[in-house]
Amino acid sequence: MSYSIPNDTRLKGPFQPMRFEATIDECVVSYGEIPKEIAGGFYRTGPTWKRPAAQGTNGLLSMDGMVQGLVLENGRADFKNRWIRTPKYELEERHGRGMFRWTDGDWDDWRNFGLGDVARDACNQGVPQGTNNVNIFPFDGKMIATADSLGAPIAIDPLTLETVGIVPWSSKLSKGLHEKAAFGDAGFTAHPKWDHETGTLYGWTYHDTEPYVTLHVVSTDGTVESRDLTDAPYNTVAHDIWLSTNYIVMPFQPFLVDKARILQGRSVYSWEPDRPIVLGLIRRDDIHAPVRWVTMDIDPQYVMHTMSANIEGDVLTLDAPIFNRPPFPFEQDFADGDDVALFFSIAKSTLGRWTVDLSTGATKTEQLSDRPSELPKVDERFFGRGYRWGFQVGGHVKRSGMSMNSLVVTDMKTGSDQEYVIRRDQPAAVLEATFVPRASTVGEGDGYIIVPVSWWAENRGEYLIFDTDDVTVGPIARIDIPFRLGWTAHGHWMDFRG
Ligand SMILES: [Fe+2]
Repeated sequence: MSYSIPNDTRLKGPFQPMRFEATIDECVVSYGEIPKEIAGGFYRTGPTWKRPAAQGTNGLLSMDGMVQGLVLENGRADFKNRWIRTPKYELEERHGRGMFRWTDGDWDDWRNFGLGDVARDACNQGVPQGTNNVNIFPFDGKMIATADSLGAPIAIDPLTLETVGIVPWSSKLSKGLHEKAAFGDAGFTAHPKWDHETGTLYGWTYHDTEPYVTLHVVSTDGTVESRDLTDAPYNTVAHDIWLSTNYIVMPFQPFLVDKARILQGRSVYSWEPDRPIVLGLIRRDDIHAPVRWVTMDIDPQYVMHTMSANIEGDVLTLDAPIFNRPPFPFEQDFADGDDVALFFSIAKSTLGRWTVDLSTGATKTEQLSDRPSELPKVDERFFGRGYRWGFQVGGHVKRSGMSMNSLVVTDMKTGSDQEYVIRRDQPAAVLEATFVPRASTVGEGDGYIIVPVSWWAENRGEYLIFDTDDVTVGPIARIDIPFRLGWTAHGHWMDFRG
């Protein structure tokens, strides 16, 4: 069966789906040279429309995940993209049609996130609904694709991009936002952190019923240590954490999720800024110890993605792009039937810092830059060890949101930054970057930054490689992709150099 692409904001412009699988050996390098010492892969994933869901519409989270991988080795680049062959994808491929009906999928408007439960019937019974379309990260020699507590982690082979399958440790994870459909079904966060030396993964799931968050610390031997945060203040969209040297810092922000709202005809998400932001500090050396809860004495604001954390003495600093409000549509500003509003079009963020005095419990927030920015990245070898260098996509204010166009490197100790503007008026999507160390042994932040850019209006893509020595001089290499890059939410680097 064939389908036309629906007339839907989620599928237009930079979001036009990449409905094919491609292999490009020896990509054209149109400018400069790829540093020969780089060896590894940059993997990204995002929701990609394959066919309509059973009711004909597709919220972003119900669309199938696709992984795009760029492998660099000895000065050469090879690109592949492949569908992530989830149980859902495989079932629908066999039947050639959408086999799942989402409870929030009958709204052809901003309320359809594809985050609701699916109706179960004889055709999809026992088949997980996960689409694994939000992030992909390295763990134990594989790339692991996840959504946001919406399905079991799925391993991807880093060279072939073939789907290996649901990870074996998934059976030890808690459910996410949906009941488990089968043995091994589960949830897992889109934004775990990890310890570079041990490979230990710090993840979690979140739920709209108690316990609202369950931590899962996963070792490379597949053991999973879990902790329910039974005394959490309220349910929250637990999208990201900070990993400091001694604490997992889980922010509870009044961006709530409640599937019961779908049945009332309302969006699954709500923003309730009268509630305080509360930080849960969980000891890394004993996740079962009592959680230290810190209620922040600051005005409403929102962190979607964290950069990293430092501790000096008793002062814990938590850095992130900080939004004025979550970049999601809510009932306060959207009515039934309104078109979909996507992310950065409705809110803006600037680099900021939350500070917690661990001796007194005092808190404060600071704005560190006037420039809109998001999609923070760091040298991930230093996750949980303190840091100095932050990398983001920068932009400028556009109406009530922001338009992203640049790479920004910030010295988080001094606040000074460097920027390179990648696009000016041309329509293009400057996507989330990744940091690549110059060599395995170099200090934090010394190396390269790879920025994917989809020049979607020209039907072409590029990966730009910048040297951290000075990003203001522009990319040192441009790798051509002869089609627009599909939109991806997130991605990470896997280093092949050991
Ligand atoms: Fe995210």
